[in-house]
Amino acid sequence: MEVVIRPDSLEASLIAAGIVARLIRENPRPVLGLATGRSPLQVYAELVRMRREEGLDFSRVTTFNLDEYVGLPPGHPGSFRAFMNRNLFDHVNIPPANIHVPDGSAPDIPAFCRAYEESIRAAGGVDIQILGIGTDGHIGFNEPSSSLGSRTRIKTLTEETRRDNSDAFGGPDRVPPHCITMGIGTIMESRACLLLAFGKKKARAVASACEGPITAMVPASVLQLHPRAIIIVDGDAASELEKADYYKWVYAHKPDWQRT
Ligand code: F6R
Repeated sequence: MEVVIRPDSLEASLIAAGIVARLIRENPRPVLGLATGRSPLQVYAELVRMRREEGLDFSRVTTFNLDEYVGLPPGHPGSFRAFMNRNLFDHVNIPPANIHVPDGSAPDIPAFCRAYEESIRAAGGVDIQILGIGTDGHIGFNEPSSSLGSRTRIKTLTEETRRDNSDAFGGPDRVPPHCITMGIGTIMESRACLLLAFGKKKARAVASACEGPITAMVPASVLQLHPRAIIIVDGDAASELEKADYYKWVYAHKPDWQRT
């Protein structure tokens, strides 16, 4: 695990966007795993800027989103599809056929989930998976107690998650209780994971994920087993990390050849 601590979320997000942009420039068929929520917003804003001002070319990019609510009407502004259109897809040149977001209105959800896994495999697997972390330690919508080997499937959200995501719906009771999410096993197969966390509210979850035991009660802790997991946080989200000074020192003294 590499833990990168930057003073604020903008600086942290620019590092993450730089890693993604490098993949897009260097890989002939880059496959991105994408998250929604507040954490990746500045990364997407920077990628959009790079498209507009530097001509960063997304025409060979394929994307797979982590999750989607079940049962929202198409185009619902609270859906993750709408979120992605607003914040990224409408502003970069990813071919529409290369964009994959779980379909929360699929008539046969188990069959849809199997097909989603198959599409990820057919695309050659995910190169970089962008992740946020829930205050309860979830990644994707794999809530505490999710199997660490789980695949894409339907899940029930916890009350805490519905509360955390209620802004787009006008109250926790209006947040759909079910979602489709990539599984933890699915996420672990990506070649690199880039987890972003900002603000004091995330400090406990970040410390448990990075320095606590690996447990299904903190799904993000499984990233300790990933060969290339980069955790990019601001000072507030890092505030409960026991080894924060060590992580800062490591980052400041990284040899040139060892790029993040
Ligand atoms: C979103 C997702 C979730 C969020 C997490 C943090 O696609 O999979 O795991 O990343 O709930 O959300 P924010 O970033 O809004 O704090």
